[in-house]
Amino acid sequence: MTTSDPEPHASPALAVRRYARPDEPWVRAWFRDPELDRWLGPLDDNWCAHVETETTGVQLVVEHEGRPIALVGVEWDPLGDRHAVTDVAVDPSRRRSGVGRVALDAALAWSGHPAATGWVAFVDPDNAVALGFFDALAWTAGAVDDGLRCMTSPAGCAHRGVRAVAGPRPRG
Ligand SMILES: CC(C)(COP(=O)(O)OP(=O)(O)OC[C@H]1O[C@@H](n2cnc3c(N)ncnc32)[C@H](O)[C@@H]1OP(=O)(O)O)[C@@H](O)C(=O)NCCC(=O)NCCS
Repeated sequence: MTTSDPEPHASPALAVRRYARPDEPWVRAWFRDPELDRWLGPLDDNWCAHVETETTGVQLVVEHEGRPIALVGVEWDPLGDRHAVTDVAVDPSRRRSGVGRVALDAALAWSGHPAATGWVAFVDPDNAVALGFFDALAWTAGAVDDGLRCMTSPAGCAHRGVRAVAGPRPRG
């Protein structure tokens, strides 16, 4: 990324797009990884059908040079406060190489999200790696609610929302 990049959260080498049915085989292959299956599985037919048709959020595929490197799920807050990151899954063969960090940044900067003031993520309190991951990205650990720890994004993570096709965006 260069300093003149107009979107500081996006890397030119990364592409972010919606999950689609042809993705299912490689996603299923990733979920054969025990860690992924333990924390985000099981991946079943209901999940695949849900993410293809959902309208209250989006499952995003982050690609590097045309190859999927991460999956990031988001549930949108209808009030436009904090959208929720429901899942972050890095290609199991590429963990701990900085992929999660850049992929989450790119997914949160995706231009298709409605406007929001920030983000939360709900993490199993036993998932020390995921807690350490969000902590390393300066997310703040909050209370455990319904068995999951609420992590909140740092200040400055607001999203402007889906871009207008034409005309000025209302301010305020
Ligand atoms: C959690 C997950 C997304 C992290 O992705 P990743 O690409 O491995 O993470 P990164 O390499 O970008 O690491 C960023 C920081 O997170 C922390 N971190 C990541 N993995 C870690 C590990 N195994 N142990 C300790 N710290 C870790 C480190 O501070 C790291 O920074 P550093 O490498 O400079 O020390 C990945 O492990 C994963 O897909 N896990 C299975 C699914 C899951 O549990 N998802 C989270 C629940 S939503």
